[in-house]
Amino acid sequence: MPPASDDYRAHGLEFAPDFVIGSATASYQIEGAAREDGRGPSIWDTFSHTPGKVWNGDTGDVADDHYHRWESDLDLMADLGLQSYRFSIAWPRIQPGGKGAINPAGVAFYSRLVDGLLERGIRPIATLYHWDLPQELEDAGGWPVRDTAYRFAEYAARTAEALGDRVHTWTTLNEPWCSAYLGYGSGAHAPGRTDGAAALAAVHHLNLAHGLAVQEIRRAATNDPDVSVTLNFHVIRGDDDTSPEAKRRIDALANRAFTNPMLLGQYPADLLEDTAGVTDWAFVRDGDLAEINQPLDVLGVNYYSTVTVKMWDGVSPRSNNDGHKDMGGSPWPGSRDVEFLKQAGPYTAMGWNIAPDGLEELLLSLKEQFPEQPLLITENGAAFDDQVTETDAGNRVHDAERVDYLVRHFTAAHRAMQQGVDLRGYQVWSLMDNFEWGYGYSKRFGIVRVDYDTQERILKDSALWLRELIATRRLPASPLGER
Ligand code: FCB
Repeated sequence: MPPASDDYRAHGLEFAPDFVIGSATASYQIEGAAREDGRGPSIWDTFSHTPGKVWNGDTGDVADDHYHRWESDLDLMADLGLQSYRFSIAWPRIQPGGKGAINPAGVAFYSRLVDGLLERGIRPIATLYHWDLPQELEDAGGWPVRDTAYRFAEYAARTAEALGDRVHTWTTLNEPWCSAYLGYGSGAHAPGRTDGAAALAAVHHLNLAHGLAVQEIRRAATNDPDVSVTLNFHVIRGDDDTSPEAKRRIDALANRAFTNPMLLGQYPADLLEDTAGVTDWAFVRDGDLAEINQPLDVLGVNYYSTVTVKMWDGVSPRSNNDGHKDMGGSPWPGSRDVEFLKQAGPYTAMGWNIAPDGLEELLLSLKEQFPEQPLLITENGAAFDDQVTETDAGNRVHDAERVDYLVRHFTAAHRAMQQGVDLRGYQVWSLMDNFEWGYGYSKRFGIVRVDYDTQERILKDSALWLRELIATRRLPASPLGER
């Protein structure tokens, strides 16, 4: 086996059979059928239908039409040999208004999906919240109000009662950082509010929702599932004199605001100090931290790129390259004076820098902070401007850059495991091109191409690459070669 090259392009690296390799999607990004079978509106329906919020006015009304094509999509997953499939459940399909009785048609959809996965030998990994908050709950205050956490616990309980005999791994929340800070701070995500204090209250209520849901899942499920949460960790760099202070602040807001309550049962003191001018954190009540601090069978890790920071000097033009769409507000309450510098390339079509070393660093740092905590990569992947090539064998997409990105990040994961990280698997984002939130359909993350006019699916070279990896358990080479 050749040694891993310095730029993380290895090949031939071996992945054990129980290292679970699959792919991931989310409900609003692929399902469509936004008004069918009793589904209620979510904040993303409202947001995407509001002019100026999503590029090109795109919405998830139809998306990949997966709600109707789920069976052939499952066949496609089986054809790729996926060991696992991470999908999300749309809360407004289960409880159209976010509370009370369940909608049987909504539950039936996910029940069929889970059965279809199991029939094909694919492990179901279900996320309860990938951002589709029922609009009625937002109208009642959304994540900044405490009641939303209780409503989420109830939804988790009802869903686990229905599917908790078959789902292998439950993830409570996907990237609560985005829900709180992009949804209520910067305004880039639904519901599009720009209020730092509301964003921090949302952080706490999302944490509380997570802790309560973990307990409900463990109570209701009958198959001893793995219970998890998915966080988008920020890997933070910077070599300016002021970078250590900037790093500490962003680490507190982005990473420790979630890991510390969830895994250590406390909020970081520096987070409370940094944000004291924004909120007094009076929404944290006695007993909350004990509810939030629940053991996790695996911790879900989403990783795409790094950020580089320093403190803004207040004079020079301010650089704001934190990788997120600028919609006016700040996703960094209490730390708006941190500057996000443009980073060295190469970049993906999102403008995100490609840094596989950041993934290795992140996994090692999580092992250091939480030595007993098993990890699972719940998302990693890349958007590129794919081209369709017509061949005698049909249409193909030679997405060499995406394959190369995956080679480098699987290499990084392998390196981390060689250094003792307990990493259980890897879910590539995404199975199919889909609705990329504020960017609509303009950004393609799929290993399968979706033609949005015909709904035709085409396996990209990256899908064929993943199939080979899963079948052989050895990392196939990058088409861009080794250096
Ligand atoms: C993550 C989201 C996922 C997808 C990728 C590109 O933040 O969880 O839905 O949009 O980014």
